[in-house]
Amino acid sequence: MASEKPIVAVTCTAPVNIAVIKYWGKRDEELILPINSSLSVTLHQDQLKTTTTAAISKDFAEDRIWLNGQEEDVGQPRLQACLREIRRLARKRRSSGDEDPLPLSVSYKVHVASVNNFPTAAGLASSAAGYACLAYALARVYGVESDLSEVARRGSGSACRSLHGGFVEWQMGERADGKDSVARQVAPELHWPELRVLILVVSAEKKLMGSTVGMQTSVETSPLLRFRAKAVVPARMAEMTRCIKERDFQGFGQLTMKDSNQFHATCLDTFPPISYLSDTSRRIIHLVHRFNAHHGQTKVAYTFDAGPNAVIFTLDNTVAEFVAALRHSFPPESNGDKFLKGLPVRPAPLSDELKAALGMDPTPGGVKYIIATQVGPGPQILDDPHAHLLGPDGLPKPAV
Ligand code: DP6
Repeated sequence: MASEKPIVAVTCTAPVNIAVIKYWGKRDEELILPINSSLSVTLHQDQLKTTTTAAISKDFAEDRIWLNGQEEDVGQPRLQACLREIRRLARKRRSSGDEDPLPLSVSYKVHVASVNNFPTAAGLASSAAGYACLAYALARVYGVESDLSEVARRGSGSACRSLHGGFVEWQMGERADGKDSVARQVAPELHWPELRVLILVVSAEKKLMGSTVGMQTSVETSPLLRFRAKAVVPARMAEMTRCIKERDFQGFGQLTMKDSNQFHATCLDTFPPISYLSDTSRRIIHLVHRFNAHHGQTKVAYTFDAGPNAVIFTLDNTVAEFVAALRHSFPPESNGDKFLKGLPVRPAPLSDELKAALGMDPTPGGVKYIIATQVGPGPQILDDPHAHLLGPDGLPKPAV
């Protein structure tokens, strides 16, 4: 028999993902089942990640959660759905009989602490990494080994795609109970090593309309969204998978831009209309198309989620020149040295021809900063006990 420890704690990290075929619209609000499949790229955790510690103990009186150091309401329905689901899976495993009878840990209350290594206020998709990390940490601490798609999905739909590294599809599934609505890896992390990702942080403001309410209104009112889900996305999923498997950047980039544009078109087709793009977002779109036209091929592609920040895909041999074009079009206002974060980018000259081809007046400060990153792995367990965000008393360690 293992000796009973007062506290069992696990700490994990999980990545952010960016969809290149967008999820927008649910067919079941409670189970979070989508109206179409989607496909994403997992970003590297060296630049963007959530870290979560989950700890259980028979001495805990109630479930509790702290996000970025602040205690939050553990009663919120999506969090409750995740906790219920993980405990159901844990019980199922115990009762299947293939396990040593474990301590009564399924009935133990859990304490959770979670932090992001990037500003939540930057408007980057933090809920996907957050719920994927929660699902992963809860699974480890309660001894669950089954597919975690459902647990993460019940927190936030896009979170199930953050359970894997590389390139990931969320198959919409057909069943009413959602058992076949799962995330699967399409290609592993190291499949396309030249691919690079630039996050252009345009605005740090909180968005006007969250994705959950936004997509609900779109489902209710947009005929274009219905058409997209039925008639457009299935073929795009197949085509995007092919582009990724063959490392066809032209095809990948064009389809990524078209799908982002169609998602934003469905937002405008929603009534009352939703607009997530800002003037700067539109300037970035313009810049990308001018840049590609100058080169006579798709060298750079943009995608936008439910906010004005752009995510750019390109290949390693184009990063330096495109960043120079960005610096030219959006001269950094005050923080010139902090304009570029993440992977190093060497300075590159901008030819007069390209400058002329871009044909836009510079907008100082339009892009606040850039995070350069690449494709990365799925959730990880941190073995070092020093990594725990909760102390031996089950409460958040004071920030150092
Ligand atoms: C535009 O996963 O945040 O980023 O399931 O209601 O939590 P909920 O929505 P969420 O929506 C993401 C929408 C998107 C596109 C995408 O990531 O596929």
